[in-house]
Amino acid sequence: MRRRVLVTAALPYANDDIHIGHITSTYLPADIYTRYLRLRGAEVIYVCGSDDHGTPIALAAKKRGVTPYEHASYYRERHIRDFKRMGIEFDIFYRTHSPENEELVRNFLIKAREKGLIYKKGTKQYRCPNCKMYLPDRFVIGTCPFCGAPNQYGDHCEVCGRQIPPGALVNPRCAICGTPAEVKDVTHFFFKLSALEEDLRRRLLTSKPHEEAMNYVLRRIEEGLKDRDISRENYRGFKMPFEDANDLYVYVRVDAPWGYVAATRKWAKEHGYTLEYRRGKDSPTEIVHFIGKDIIYHHFLFRPAMLMVSERFKLPTRYAVNGFLLLEGKKMSKSRGRYIKVSEITERYDHEYVRFYLAMKARNRLKDENRRRKDFQERINSDLIGNIGNLIHRVNTLAYRILDGTPRPEEMDEEDKEIVKVAEELLKRAEMKYEAINIGGVIDEILRAAGVGNSYLAKKEPRKNKSIAPGVLTSLLYLNATIVTVLHPIMPEHTRKIRESRGLKDFYREVPDASKIRIKEKPKPPFKKISVPEAS
Ligand code: 2FM
Ligand code: ZN
Repeated sequence: MRRRVLVTAALPYANDDIHIGHITSTYLPADIYTRYLRLRGAEVIYVCGSDDHGTPIALAAKKRGVTPYEHASYYRERHIRDFKRMGIEFDIFYRTHSPENEELVRNFLIKAREKGLIYKKGTKQYRCPNCKMYLPDRFVIGTCPFCGAPNQYGDHCEVCGRQIPPGALVNPRCAICGTPAEVKDVTHFFFKLSALEEDLRRRLLTSKPHEEAMNYVLRRIEEGLKDRDISRENYRGFKMPFEDANDLYVYVRVDAPWGYVAATRKWAKEHGYTLEYRRGKDSPTEIVHFIGKDIIYHHFLFRPAMLMVSERFKLPTRYAVNGFLLLEGKKMSKSRGRYIKVSEITERYDHEYVRFYLAMKARNRLKDENRRRKDFQERINSDLIGNIGNLIHRVNTLAYRILDGTPRPEEMDEEDKEIVKVAEELLKRAEMKYEAINIGGVIDEILRAAGVGNSYLAKKEPRKNKSIAPGVLTSLLYLNATIVTVLHPIMPEHTRKIRESRGLKDFYREVPDASKIRIKEKPKPPFKKISVPEAS
């Protein structure tokens, strides 16, 4: 049976442009992994969509004088455009404000309540009398009741690290207009996450969906999972589907994660499949979620808990998780201008160079990665061009001149055959790194193999030693063809052009049969050097 994989990438909030940090941690590695799986012959779909709900979207929409749906649609279109600029291709980019999603959310909520896993409870909530709205945690600021630190958000003190109970903030004020906030008694719906603790732990221990994140997640379970509120006031998403819900809406933490399933359902319907085929409970599909490290809790605990309750859908097989991309060692910040938009970088540079560079930082690990301005230039000019591009171009040019563009495998001696072994080794090692979704690791392997090729070329000097030239160059053509294949998911357009110019087809099982290569025209350098100005 063909391997079947469902790849998802965290649904971006339709409230702002995405930046290269999001691309690096989530969308690019997922795109590369999808392309790799396809090269290997897997049946894979890559789904994503906009996260259309939430207070920030409702507020921004109000400011712009449009509806939240219109606001979300505006950013969603911008996201689609930016993904395209980066060569990121989804099978579907759907949205959480969709009829498919509403139905899934509704079914889940009804079932969870039937099972006694949803209950109503009184709690406290801040309200701004000036803005006339209830304030979510990120929209209220005050003094921590434990350590006295000023300017802390509603739920958590960043200074002493403690959780702040609802309503306990001292001198709370509205983060939008600064007015002192009132504390109101309200009733909300809660999801009994605590009841699923044991099931979640058992599942995590047996499926081990991500090595590094496991410790963090198991620690959270050890501390005890808290029941979570799942409803909101004055907010335009889906209504709570209960008669006693008054005017409460479903909180975004519940409806967003169903967006993956909704998008898959929409895609399946349009392509003549059932949703069960793609992600039903007993489907052999591997489900792989790409996320940033800030949403581990939600994706490893809260969301699987909902899927367990629904009893209909398969749980995640594994996750790829990446840390943040830092700029010059610091967190990206829009207000401080430390922020690189996709449009900004793709207007200046070939987007596949950007893919190559950012992919180096996607290693499926929680550690933050740094991006330095000069580092981009160095990695492109010395690694991509000086190492990989140099090998490709010199070998092709020499093969064109000396071999008339036609390899001669029968002339390879034992030493040349070692180079073919380097190619075989590269294929195997890169496969391991791809399977571990360590894309930076794949690039390390390519660079290592290209380095070996360049040294071999320098040592043998085929231009001067005509008698050994055919064997040497042929072996290096094998290595090049392998490098180009391994690089394909990372730089699909460039590698397609290189392959076409040599008459190669797609494959990834064995070292490409370089004896079929024909170089008919004088080769052009595959890449061009870049220069990054000081202040970009
Ligand atoms: O953190 C975020 O950007 C959220 N919009 C991710 C949601 S992913 C999924 F749960 F929908
Ligand atoms: Zn206010």
